[in-house]
Amino acid sequence: MILVAGGTGFVGGGIVRELALRGKQFAVLTRNAARSADRFPGLVVQYREGDVCDPSSLATAIAGVDAVIGCQQFPNSPIENPKKGHTFDEVDARGTENLVIAAKAAGAKQYVYLSAAGAAPEGYHWFRAKWRAEQAVRNSGLTYTILRPPWVYGPEDRALNRFLAMSRFQPFVPLIGAVGKQMMQPVFVDDVGRATAECLDNPAAANQTFEIGGPGVFAMSDVVKTALQVAGRRRLLLPAPTFVMKALASVLQFMPGRPLTPDAVDFITMGALGDPTEISEKLGLTPTPLREGLATYLAKSD
Ligand SMILES: NC(=O)c1ccc[n+]([C@@H]2O[C@H](COP(=O)([O-])OP(=O)(O)OC[C@H]3O[C@@H](n4cnc5c(N)ncnc54)[C@H](OP(=O)(O)O)[C@@H]3O)[C@@H](O)[C@H]2O)c1
Repeated sequence: MILVAGGTGFVGGGIVRELALRGKQFAVLTRNAARSADRFPGLVVQYREGDVCDPSSLATAIAGVDAVIGCQQFPNSPIENPKKGHTFDEVDARGTENLVIAAKAAGAKQYVYLSAAGAAPEGYHWFRAKWRAEQAVRNSGLTYTILRPPWVYGPEDRALNRFLAMSRFQPFVPLIGAVGKQMMQPVFVDDVGRATAECLDNPAAANQTFEIGGPGVFAMSDVVKTALQVAGRRRLLLPAPTFVMKALASVLQFMPGRPLTPDAVDFITMGALGDPTEISEKLGLTPTPLREGLATYLAKSD
């Protein structure tokens, strides 16, 4: 039995669909099973309630599990809300530490962790939190694989789809950051799902850390342009420099729901690369080209 923590989320959804396609026996860890009941129309999914921030909730949820896939992420990431415990430190780092302890206590043998490109002991606090989570997994004694995607896109993502949503009703799309020059290596969510499922079965993935970007490196502005082309929309790209966004965010962070924070602007405007060569060669995976991945769900609209 495989337990997918974060299986109701965007990346987790890709993983769940791939596990179902492969006929795997799996359950999804969620904080609210009733709310998640309709998450996967047409799939019969077993939900187990638990919260990675509450170790006492995990023992029952993890009973009988052989392998854990950890891809939980705090709500509204990357906009942290410390008052609610919605932070990289609490959910990524401490949550993973809790889940690793629970997995070992339950007799699980394997852990696949969805980290992120750039995870490191130094640097921005989100990279340090991811690193702490990675270390918990690496030092667990379980057979592990760590995957580091840079920027995942797909029908349910909350990044590229935000630009596309803006383009639906306005003649321009804002390009946040250094005029869209930050370099990205977007990876299709189905590829992350396939890679994660493959890691469970393929001995070549045992105790490995893999970057998993897409096959091409693009400036952010070219990613947005390509998505607009695939969607059949001609729009102006309007620069929204980082200092303007930060000034805006320094006010918005005090509004209800914290729509934007200066931290989140840093997160959004970072480049994100992840060379898929090693994982492709070792696991026999072929990453989907950006235009092809986008074309699977972006209908030409207007
Ligand atoms: N999206 C990207 O572009 C990207 C890029 C690089 C790395 N990643 C990594 O991929 C993973 C998944 O990201 P995502 O974008 O798919 O996130 P997401 O859509 O926000 O989903 C995260 C899921 O985590 C669950 N969750 C939240 N708090 C929890 C808690 N305290 N206990 C248990 N479950 C909890 C939620 O499930 P319930 O609400 O059902 O509890 C939610 O469905 C993360 O580790 C992220 O760092 C993502």
